[in-house]
Amino acid sequence: MAEWKPTLEEGGGPLYLMLAEAILQDVRSGRLAPGSRLPNQRELAETLGASVGTVTRAYQVAESRGAIDSTPGRGTFVRRHQDADSVAGAPLSLDSSLVDLSVAHPLYGQEPVLGPALATLAQEVDVQRLLRYQPLDEIPRYRDAGNRWLRACGTEREEGAEILITSGAQHAGLVLTLALTEPGDLILADEITYPGFLSVAEQTHRRVRGVAMDAHGMLPEALRNTCEEERPRALYLTPTLQNPTGLILPEERRRELAGIAEAYDLLVLEDDTLRLLASAPPPTLASIVPERTFFVGSFSKAVTGGLRVAFVHSPPRYLAAARRAIGASVFMPSPLLVELATRWIEDGTAWDTVARKRGELEERHRIAREILGADAVRAQPQSLYLWLELGEGWRSAEFEAEARRQGVGVTPSRPFSVDASRPPDGVRICLSAAPGRRQLEEALGTLAHLLRNPGSRTPRLV
Ligand SMILES: Cc1ncc(COP(=O)(O)O)c(C=O)c1O
Repeated sequence: MAEWKPTLEEGGGPLYLMLAEAILQDVRSGRLAPGSRLPNQRELAETLGASVGTVTRAYQVAESRGAIDSTPGRGTFVRRHQDADSVAGAPLSLDSSLVDLSVAHPLYGQEPVLGPALATLAQEVDVQRLLRYQPLDEIPRYRDAGNRWLRACGTEREEGAEILITSGAQHAGLVLTLALTEPGDLILADEITYPGFLSVAEQTHRRVRGVAMDAHGMLPEALRNTCEEERPRALYLTPTLQNPTGLILPEERRRELAGIAEAYDLLVLEDDTLRLLASAPPPTLASIVPERTFFVGSFSKAVTGGLRVAFVHSPPRYLAAARRAIGASVFMPSPLLVELATRWIEDGTAWDTVARKRGELEERHRIAREILGADAVRAQPQSLYLWLELGEGWRSAEFEAEARRQGVGVTPSRPFSVDASRPPDGVRICLSAAPGRRQLEEALGTLAHLLRNPGSRTPRLV
């Protein structure tokens, strides 16, 4: 029989699903006879102008439906004994097989196991106490755990220092914005930054202006110029494993930016949610200019996002205002969650989790460098994500749409852009969001192919 070629249905959808559907149809109709061999994946990818990853995924989907079998080293064959029902099953849908690298899921597979921790908690603690209203940051155990966490993050407060406890770093951003600034105030941030902070500013009617960056992060000269032109009140930074670029601001830059903050009397909101994942990050701004810096160290990315606990160091004169904002927003974080976070800090679970995640992230970055090329991957190797510059031929939104059609979710630049009218031509790829390394490899293979072939769009008919 002449080499089989798929007939792809017109009407779009991700290419790998169209291809999988074509295989299933041809198996059903007998055009692909039992026992016959499917084309080699690389050759079929070339024929279709697609990536090998796309063909691999299509074959996997068809295999999961019981239509074909792949044997490493031998090839892919149509099954001799078809399970007719599964071959004829429901139409393939995108959602079931999208590898979504657009959301910063912090490696769910590496997180602590909750069930036994809750059982131990119930045995060892008067859990009834956790149902009461209580001033959490005055309870010595919680305060000690928070200070331990923040010191591990590189702040330099003495033991027993006052802390704030919030329901995650997003909540800390809201609380500090409310406590330190007024509606209409100007806050400066990296020109591409964490969208959660932009949404806080929008909701609270604070203005944000983006400051130019280079390959290391915010440019001191650009910050100085902006301070000359305007009268900003605060500077928002995510200096370690920055969201979305994965960059770490070098020490010299930190010192220069801190100096400018002092010269122009800016308060500094240092959101270091990802810091503990980095192996040897430079000093915090909070250790350089502690009297004007609010340091946020969250549990979410380093341990688990569902626990909703962050610890904050604030210059003492702002503590009361920040506590009022916590009170106005949630009264207090949930004592149950703060108890659990404290226990995990005390018994080592939190630190073990951080170490496991770091190891897995380094491995995923190795894969990314191999597939996308070392030059394309500028993020530091423990970052949850990387920023992919698209170069000539791709606009960010177009690349995102085409990647999604081919079964891979990425985030376009617009949500991160302070100036939404000028989103840069890049996308964020969240390496930690793939369920496993194999899915990551395939998804990155698809993206690498797209990147190298700006003209390639999902073919309609072959
Ligand atoms: C820079 C930054 N800050 C804050 C957050 C929110 O963290 P949390 O889950 O602790 O609210 C994120 C989450 O992605 C983030 O990347």
